[in-house]
Amino acid sequence: MDLRTEEVMTVPRFVRLKGRRPIVMVTAYDFPMAQLVDQAGVDGILVGDSLGMVVQGRPNTLSVTWEQMLYHAEMVGRAVQRALVVVDFPFPLSQLEPAQVLTHAAEALRLPGVSAVKLEGGQELVPSVQRLVRAGVPVMAHCGLRPQSVHRLGGYRIQRDRQTLLQEALALQQAGAFAVVVECVSAPVAQELTQALQVPTIGIGAGPHCDGQVLVLHDLLGLNTGPVPKFAKAYAQLASTIRQAVQQFCQEVRQGRYPGPEHSYQ
Ligand code: KIV
Repeated sequence: MDLRTEEVMTVPRFVRLKGRRPIVMVTAYDFPMAQLVDQAGVDGILVGDSLGMVVQGRPNTLSVTWEQMLYHAEMVGRAVQRALVVVDFPFPLSQLEPAQVLTHAAEALRLPGVSAVKLEGGQELVPSVQRLVRAGVPVMAHCGLRPQSVHRLGGYRIQRDRQTLLQEALALQQAGAFAVVVECVSAPVAQELTQALQVPTIGIGAGPHCDGQVLVLHDLLGLNTGPVPKFAKAYAQLASTIRQAVQQFCQEVRQGRYPGPEHSYQ
């Protein structure tokens, strides 16, 4: 059964998927990839600050700037015809004063095709989420493991403080968040959270009971040459496909087999 939707995904439609069918999101950072994943039928595309690691080759997401996020978001937003495009706030923008957070969110929403922003954090974000929602900006929250706090957490680890997670997610929902990304949390806790919230939970390393799943595109495609987390499933092996294709090109050029007559102008 093909569960893709042909409808343009809006925030209200996205929220209404809770309890009806699992929601599918992936990250994308450029025009061709965004076009492909949109055509493949995902519900949402996150222009994640994970681009710091998978595109820029950095050890964490902390050095990604807002200008870089807007640069990538503009390409993605222009490519997408149907999926909901969400732009991540990089470190430490979500911790600014609510009025400044709104100014930045407005820059994202002015881009073609962009419909929402994602803020990573807990209870401290409630005033900013309220400010954005009052101004008409849809906000996706991000609880559990927060990669922007990697140094305080001492690494990318499963988050086991059930009580804090529940309190934070409920507070962010109450503030107006339309969905909550839940990262690296045990499956039973993510299930409890999903049952407690009226808005969709989008899991990453949070087991099968969330309302939806998101993966970093490079992990999903097997494009990552570095370490990959346990929860990430590779549905293709593009790193080796690319290596093989380029090796073959090297060989054919060096052996004088490329370009042949069919690739040459007479
Ligand atoms: O930046 C990102 O890609 C994310 C996902 C891991 C949810 O925040």
